[in-house]
Amino acid sequence: MAIKKVGVLGCGLMGSGIAQVSAMAGYDVIVLEADQKFIDKGFAGIEKSLAKLAEKPVEKGGITAEQKDAARARLKGTLNNKDLADCDLIIEAIIENPEIKKKTFAELDAIVKKDAIFATNTSSICVTELAAATKRPDRFIGLHFFNPVPLMKLVEVVKTIATADSVMDEAYEFGKKVGKVPVRTSDKTGFIVNRLLVPYLLDAIRAYEEGAGSIPDIDNAMKLGCGYPMGPFTLLDFVGLDTTYYITHVMFDEFKERRFASPALLRRLVLAGWFGRKTGKGFYDYSDPANPRAMEF
Ligand code: CAA
Repeated sequence: MAIKKVGVLGCGLMGSGIAQVSAMAGYDVIVLEADQKFIDKGFAGIEKSLAKLAEKPVEKGGITAEQKDAARARLKGTLNNKDLADCDLIIEAIIENPEIKKKTFAELDAIVKKDAIFATNTSSICVTELAAATKRPDRFIGLHFFNPVPLMKLVEVVKTIATADSVMDEAYEFGKKVGKVPVRTSDKTGFIVNRLLVPYLLDAIRAYEEGAGSIPDIDNAMKLGCGYPMGPFTLLDFVGLDTTYYITHVMFDEFKERRFASPALLRRLVLAGWFGRKTGKGFYDYSDPANPRAMEF
């Protein structure tokens, strides 16, 4: 089956990024949201990102003004799930709540054509459980993108015990078509990246709790000593402390290992409502966004 039209569920950070790279790759894209204000916000972010890319020379990963306008013209928003009926691929990027995701997929299963592929961008929820909420578990897969989607080159393609091999191949090809390097992985919580990344981030918090160094010193140590683009605390604030906290629960529940358990400080930050960049405070205070100030606990 040739994928021509892509439906994206959710127009937040991840959904809008996925919609953008799909439109840039030449697919017709329709984004489903619950409220027009989320579509407006997501599309404004896409506009900004496309404008940044159009400023860059093509040989350095930029796009031309024509490519920018063409991508924008391929994108539509809707509040009505019936508008996704003729999509060939649906990619879900809504809130990380299994019950809401299952309900959304079950409703779409009755509307969207039978041979369409359903994909979830979840970072931690069991893909098999979501697939089982539909009558097409063989055509259900994980497609896990990374933030910021237009810049990060990886997509994890996640096979469940029920996914057909041909669907895995089609999703892998789609990943390449949207400019990513796809990696194949299986439906074990955390897939490849979070299985390795989450214990590292949690260890950085534990190292701070145990007095190994200050927040900026630990960040600089890992950035300059290992060549990482961001230190662990900058990355934690970027990913969102609420998101990380949620992931720790799902991973701890699956593996029952201390390396996936939330440190006490992470829990306190989440309870205080300090989720990182998005709330203006986390391991850093972003009152002056150009000069984040490290917190001391
Ligand atoms: N769209 C288009 N262009 C963008 C952009 C966007 N959304 N965001 C930034 N840019 C551009 C900037 O304009 C800038 O362009 P120039 O080089 O022409 O100036 C360029 O990209 C670099 O941006 P910055 O100078 O602002 O910052 P940077 O050099 O630090 O790069 C970064 C930014 C790519 C995010 C880099 O810091 C990085 O790779 N960080 C690590 C991110 C990461 O690990 N993400 C994964 C998180 S885990 C996850 O997502 C999964 C999960 O399940 C939790």
